[in-house]
Amino acid sequence: MDAPVSQSALPAELAVIPAVRPAPPAVLSFEGVTKRFATRTATPFTAVQDLSFTIGKGEFVSIVGPSGCGKSTVLNMTAGLDAPTEGRVSLSGEVVTGPNKHVGFMLQKDLLLPWRSIVRNVEFGLEARALSRAERRERALRELARCRLSDFANHYPFQLSGGMRQRAALARTLAIEPDVVLLDEPFSALDAQTKLLLQRSFARTIHDSGVTALLITHDLAEAVAMSDRILVMSERPGRIVEEIDLDLPHRDDPIARQALPRAREAMTHLFQSLHLAEREE
Ligand SMILES: Nc1ncnc2c1ncn2[C@@H]1O[C@H](COP(=O)(O)OP(=O)(O)OP(=O)(O)O)[C@@H](O)[C@H]1O
Ligand SMILES: [Mg+2]
Repeated sequence: MDAPVSQSALPAELAVIPAVRPAPPAVLSFEGVTKRFATRTATPFTAVQDLSFTIGKGEFVSIVGPSGCGKSTVLNMTAGLDAPTEGRVSLSGEVVTGPNKHVGFMLQKDLLLPWRSIVRNVEFGLEARALSRAERRERALRELARCRLSDFANHYPFQLSGGMRQRAALARTLAIEPDVVLLDEPFSALDAQTKLLLQRSFARTIHDSGVTALLITHDLAEAVAMSDRILVMSERPGRIVEEIDLDLPHRDDPIARQALPRAREAMTHLFQSLHLAEREE
């Protein structure tokens, strides 16, 4: 097994001074989690192996790693859609045993319902909750305001741009007031400029709401620009080979953060951590 690289191996500017930033209470924890999938042969397929990490309240953590290393599997286990073969996943102190209301999940596709207005899309996830119609509406409008979509509450999804639709999907995810928001490559289907603007919009909204976020991304610049911490996974079976505590300013403004020399240093470090220079396609 590749040994995790200690923080002392990081450039001095990226290392954290523990006394300055005490760890917030854990919202999500993985303890010795291994996931194997059954195959047609006698040997099961190990997707991820011995994952242990915690994510604190209000933290924004990204997971990067090669395709197929098990990133989506980590999210699925957090959401209770897949169960670990070994180890356990806990959310706010409770072991995850199945789908639960503490998790908000956002994918590359916005999955808005085309026949519902934007505000009614945001209300959708609240309909199973014990809330009055007025409370649902109030919460939906509050999240639309946070996502700067108040003027589009009565529009339909087809009337919105791709970026606005993703913002509406984020509003819907936040409306259920999850303990953690899981983001599986939410920007990967967008053009470069829309992506930058949307990253900034998401960063602000998530920062303002104070929600804990776990982002899966192939985009290393995005991970550096948006996160407090990055978990680097190895090739399959996925293990965590490094944890990078970024300790950079502007978590609510990825465009400003990307311009920092220290952000570029973190990128170079990530390239090395993923052995990109030595890897073939
Ligand atoms: N339900 C399943 N049954 C069998 N194998 C699965 C299942 N889900 C995932 N896998 C396998 O587990 C491995 C990890 O998959 P996963 O989708 O988590 O990777 P990923 O890191 O998200 O990949 P990508 O970057 O391409 O999205 C892959 O080899 C995949 O084929
Ligand atoms: Mg994936």
